[in-house]
Amino acid sequence: MANLMGKYAVVTGGGKGLGAAIAGRFLADGAMGVALLDMDGDLAAKTASQLDPAGKKALAVRCDVSDAARVEEAFAQVATAFGRIDILVNNAGITRDSMFHKMSFEQFSQVMNVHVNGMYHCARQVVEGMRQRKWGRIISMASTSAFGNIGQANYSAAKSAIIGFTKTLALELARYQVTANCIAPGFIHTDIIKTVPEKVMEDIVRTIPMGRIGEPEEVAALAAFLASGDAAYITGECIRCAGGKEK
Ligand SMILES: NC(=O)c1ccc[n+]([C@@H]2O[C@H](COP(=O)([O-])OP(=O)(O)OC[C@H]3O[C@@H](n4cnc5c(N)ncnc54)[C@H](O)[C@@H]3O)[C@@H](O)[C@H]2O)c1
Repeated sequence: MANLMGKYAVVTGGGKGLGAAIAGRFLADGAMGVALLDMDGDLAAKTASQLDPAGKKALAVRCDVSDAARVEEAFAQVATAFGRIDILVNNAGITRDSMFHKMSFEQFSQVMNVHVNGMYHCARQVVEGMRQRKWGRIISMASTSAFGNIGQANYSAAKSAIIGFTKTLALELARYQVTANCIAPGFIHTDIIKTVPEKVMEDIVRTIPMGRIGEPEEVAALAAFLASGDAAYITGECIRCAGGKEK
């Protein structure tokens, strides 16, 4: 268990998959409030009520992170409910896989907008408060695909941008005791990998040293550690959670 007693967090893409697992783990570890920002508001609401049946600590907010104006409204709503945000998890993500020679600019820019512009919009909402309070955690979901993956030039570019952005934020915010780190999952059981054909997935599993796909809870455990006081001296890192798979 990580100690997140009294902390307030925002998890983007918190409606399902890794985001929902992270939100659940934060609450289990004592977080005072977790906002689930998701473009699917009904899903976020359903997940929030599953994680927190009493409806006191999990807050569902419909928000497309690539929409700057909507992000501003959503964070204002969270600030009114929680008073402050100690932890931001930039997790919302999509894939639009295609070989590059067939990739449309729309496929490229949709992925960049959600992952990279979304991270920018959300981080801008929390950084000032974290600097002033001299405490904060910004955790962003990268991927082992950042290091190259056939059919994912858009996603790989976005995930590499997330790593570079994080390393720079870490340098700029270190003196304020605000950390910025990335998690690079390999293949984890969520809907995002359901589009991968079964045969391809069997081949992928053979390349994973641990011989299995990871579970969302295994990524959530790392997020909880990075969000906790125990990780106060860890910043600018990109930590793989990939069963030994390098890329
Ligand atoms: N599952 C994996 O194997 C894996 C591996 C590496 C990295 N990741 C990354 O982890 C993150 C979470 O992925 P997941 O597997 O849980 O995916 P998922 O598809 O299960 O869940 C993604 C969630 O993000 C939300 N979302 C999508 N676009 C959004 C937007 N514009 N604004 C707000 N919410 C939005 C969706 O509604 C959904 O609830 C993503 O950034 C993904 O790239 C996943």
